Amino acid sequence: MRLLITGGAGFIGSNLVGKLVKSNEIIVIDNLSGGKEEFIEPFLDEIKFYKVDLLEDISSYFFGVEEVWHLAADPSVKDSSINTFFRDLKITKNVLEACKKNKVKKILFTSSSTVYGDSELNTPENCETKPISFYGATKLACESLISTYCSLCKIRGFIFRLANIIGKNSTHGVIYDFIQKLLKNGEQLEILGDGTQTKSYLSVEDCINGMLIAKNKAENPVNIFNLGSKDRINVKEIASVVVEEMISSGLLQKKPEFKFTGGVEGGRGWKGDVKEMLLNISKLEKLGFKPEYNSKEAVRKCVMEIINTLCKK
Ligand SMILES: NC(=O)c1ccc[n+]([C@@H]2O[C@H](COP(=O)([O-])OP(=O)(O)OC[C@H]3O[C@@H](n4cnc5c(N)ncnc54)[C@H](O)[C@@H]3O)[C@@H](O)[C@H]2O)c1
Repeated sequence: MRLLITGGAGFIGSNLVGKLVKSNEIIVIDNLSGGKEEFIEPFLDEIKFYKVDLLEDISSYFFGVEEVWHLAADPSVKDSSINTFFRDLKITKNVLEACKKNKVKKILFTSSSTVYGDSELNTPENCETKPISFYGATKLACESLISTYCSLCKIRGFIFRLANIIGKNSTHGVIYDFIQKLLKNGEQLEILGDGTQTKSYLSVEDCINGMLIAKNKAENPVNIFNLGSKDRINVKEIASVVVEEMISSGLLQKKPEFKFTGGVEGGRGWKGDVKEMLLNISKLEKLGFKPEYNSKEAVRKCVMEIINTLCKK
């Protein structure tokens, strides 16, 4: 099958390319604003890679494509602004127009748990959506645009509200951030907020597996799924795992002092940070999804993978 992945040189995208490359003809569009060519370098002989900005006219790249995985976006919740909203909505509109013109059959979209805002824990898909960041608002707007095009143009839609996804090739997020800070200063680790922010973390392998299960088994014209692990871990515990693994790999000599910024509004890392997050994943579990790693295991695995990559360089 010919499929196109936007943002395919990014963290989740490059792992997806690795998973799908053997059995599909893959086209990747990525402007490398966040992604890296080295992430897809092992597959460059087998895929078509275009370094193109999705704000441009992209329709011709979609010729003959049956399935589009739309991952390209600015992934930072913390730095999101009203500009993120208009930019990523326009990208999504361009992707959908290209799907319409080329009669694409399926679109899969990486949305986020942030669409729910500060909602009740164990959040089901039918919970009210009340985003508290521009990032969350952007994802929600993209979801509704996708739903509309799916209905008007007979495209099938798969929308994934992702928890924190972590693993090989990640270039942002709390784990990456802690490791970079500790490499610069091994004496002290600055932790945003009060360290009690507690959320669900999922390995990128489990994430991709979950999306594929949904694609193969869900039957509605538009399908919305939460995708996360079944438990949570707090930021202070994550810092401890990072420190333990950096000490045992020799990248750190001793335990650093943890310095909490205190954050805003009762310990959020920043304005718009959802402090407590756990998604109810029973809808996807009913289709056979079972995460292999819990949050703490996924965190440790991710730390070890980032450290291994650093040690090889
Ligand atoms: N990583 C997570 O924890 C997480 C959680 C929820 C949702 N998501 C979503 O999953 C998707 C992938 O996230 P990621 O963590 O792999 O981030 P990433 O930054 O590694 O990947 C995004 C990719 O999109 C590309 N891109 C951005 N703007 C582009 C443009 N205008 N034209 C072409 N390419 C462009 C970037 O270069 C990058 O390679 C994003 O939509 C993100 O919002 C991620």
